[in-house]
Amino acid sequence: MKISIIGTGYVGLVTGVSLAHKGHKVTCVDKREDIVTRINNSEATIYEPGLQVLLEQVIGKGNLKATTDLEYAVMNSDVSIIAVGTPFGDGRIDLSYIIGCATEIGQILKGKDKYHVVCVKSTVAPTTTDTIVKNILETTSGKKAGQFGLSMNPEFLREGKAVEDFMNPDRIVIGAYDNKSFNVVNRIYKGHFKAPIIRVNLRTAEMIKYTSNALLATLISYSNEIASICEETGGVDVREVLESVTLDKRFNPKVGNRLVNPEMISYLRAGCGFGGSCFPKDVKALISFSAGKGYEPEILQSTMNINETQPMRLVTRLGKNINGLEGKKIAVLGIAFKPDTDDVRESPALIIIRELLRQKAKVFAVDPIAVQNASMVLPNDNEELHLMTDYKMALQNADAAMLITSWPEFTSIPSYEFVSFMSKPVLIDGRRVYDKKTMENAGITYIGVGLDSTEAAKNG
Ligand SMILES: NC(=O)c1ccc[n+]([C@@H]2O[C@H](COP(=O)([O-])OP(=O)(O)OC[C@H]3O[C@@H](n4cnc5c(N)ncnc54)[C@H](O)[C@@H]3O)[C@@H](O)[C@H]2O)c1
Repeated sequence: MKISIIGTGYVGLVTGVSLAHKGHKVTCVDKREDIVTRINNSEATIYEPGLQVLLEQVIGKGNLKATTDLEYAVMNSDVSIIAVGTPFGDGRIDLSYIIGCATEIGQILKGKDKYHVVCVKSTVAPTTTDTIVKNILETTSGKKAGQFGLSMNPEFLREGKAVEDFMNPDRIVIGAYDNKSFNVVNRIYKGHFKAPIIRVNLRTAEMIKYTSNALLATLISYSNEIASICEETGGVDVREVLESVTLDKRFNPKVGNRLVNPEMISYLRAGCGFGGSCFPKDVKALISFSAGKGYEPEILQSTMNINETQPMRLVTRLGKNINGLEGKKIAVLGIAFKPDTDDVRESPALIIIRELLRQKAKVFAVDPIAVQNASMVLPNDNEELHLMTDYKMALQNADAAMLITSWPEFTSIPSYEFVSFMSKPVLIDGRRVYDKKTMENAGITYIGVGLDSTEAAKNG
C-alpha cells in the first residue's frame, strides 16, 4: 500500500520505518527540512533501539522516503496517517498541529479524485476526529465524509521499545467512520502483524488510548502514595509491600510453576514519578476534557497531584539529611524520563534539578544520551549546573548522589565507588534499585523511596 505519514517525530518515524519494513511504500512528511534531509540520508533523528538499522534497510530498498511536500505525499498515497504532536497547553490539549495538518490535507483532497483515507494516529481527546477533524476536512475539501475516509488508529508504543512494540502490538485498534475507511486501514495491518484487530467507532478508539495511559499513570501514583505512607510510618518497606501484593495470582498468574510476571506489575513499583511525552499530558488532557463535559475526575486529578509532589519529596528528604542544600554538590544520576531514551520531556529529573538549583545547590547531572536534549530545556546561564555523560566525574567529591533514571550503568555502580568518590556519601535511591544493607555496610547513608527515614523507624 502507498502510505503517507504526516509528522515524522517519535511516532511518525517509527510507524513509517516499521510499515516500510513490512513492504508498504511510505512517504514521511515533516515541516522541518533538517528532519527530512537527515532521514533521506538514512540517519535516524531520534534514538530508539533497532531504528537506525531498519531505517537504512528500508531506504536502501526504496520503501521509504521523506519530504516536506505534503501535496506530493497525499496525491501519491491511499491513506494519510496523522502523527503530529498534541501537547498540553493553557489547561487543555493543544490541537493546533492537528488542525493545521487537517486543513492542509483537506485543501489537497479538493483536487484529488481518487478515494483517500485520513487516519489520526496522534493521541486526541474523544470526539476530536468525528467533530473537529471531520468538519475541517469537509469544509476545506468541499466533500462529505464518505467521499473521503476517516479513521482513528491510536498508537501504544513505548519510547525505548518503540520499534519492538510497533512490530509486536498487543492489539491494533481501528476506529472507523464507515466500512470503506475501515477496509483501507485494515489492509495496512492485516496479514502483516500478529495481533487482534479491534474495530470500534472513532471516539471509542480515542477513549481506549486515554484510558490505557491514565490507568498506567494511576498505578504509578498509587504506588507512590503507598510509598509516602510507608515513609511516614517507619519500619515498613514499600518494596516488600508491593512485591507481595503483586504476587496475587490476579496480578501475576502462574503457568505451570512459572510466574508470568506481566509487565503491568512494573507500574506497581514506587519511584520518582512518571514523565515522558505521553502520561502527564494525556492524563491532564483527559481531566480537562472530562471537566469540560461537566464531570470532575477525582482519581485522575489525584494521580497528577501525587506525581507533581513525588520528585519534591526526594529533594526535601535530601535537604534534611545533609543539613540544607545551599552550596552542596549533588550528583543527579539520570536525566531521561526512563532508560533507553534520550527524551527528557516532563522528566522528574528536570523538576529535581530545577529545585536543587533554586535551593542553591551545585548540580552535576549525568546521562549517557540525554544531555543534549537536557541542555535545551535547562537554564544555560546557571554556573551551578553541569551536564555530563561520565558518572564518575559527577560523583567526585559530591555531598550526595540521587539515582533518578535506572540506566544500567548507574544501577550497577558498586558501593565502593560511591565511597571512594564521595567523602561522606549520601545516596538517594529514587528507583529502589540498590541494596540498602550493602550500601549501609559500606558506610553510605542510604535513603530510599518508600523506605522509612531513620527517625520514623526509631520512633515507631
Ligand atoms: N512519543 C510517544 O511515545 C507516543 C506514543 C503513543 C502516542 N503518541 C502520540 O503521537 C503523537 C505524536 O507524538 P510524537 O512524540 O511523535 O511527537 P513529536 O513532537 O516527536 O513529532 C511531531 C512531528 O510533527 C511535525 N509536524 C507538526 N505539524 C506538522 C504538519 N502540519 N505537517 C508536517 N509535519 C508536522 C513536527 O515537526 C514534528 O517533527 C502525539 O499525539 C502523541 O501523544 C506518542
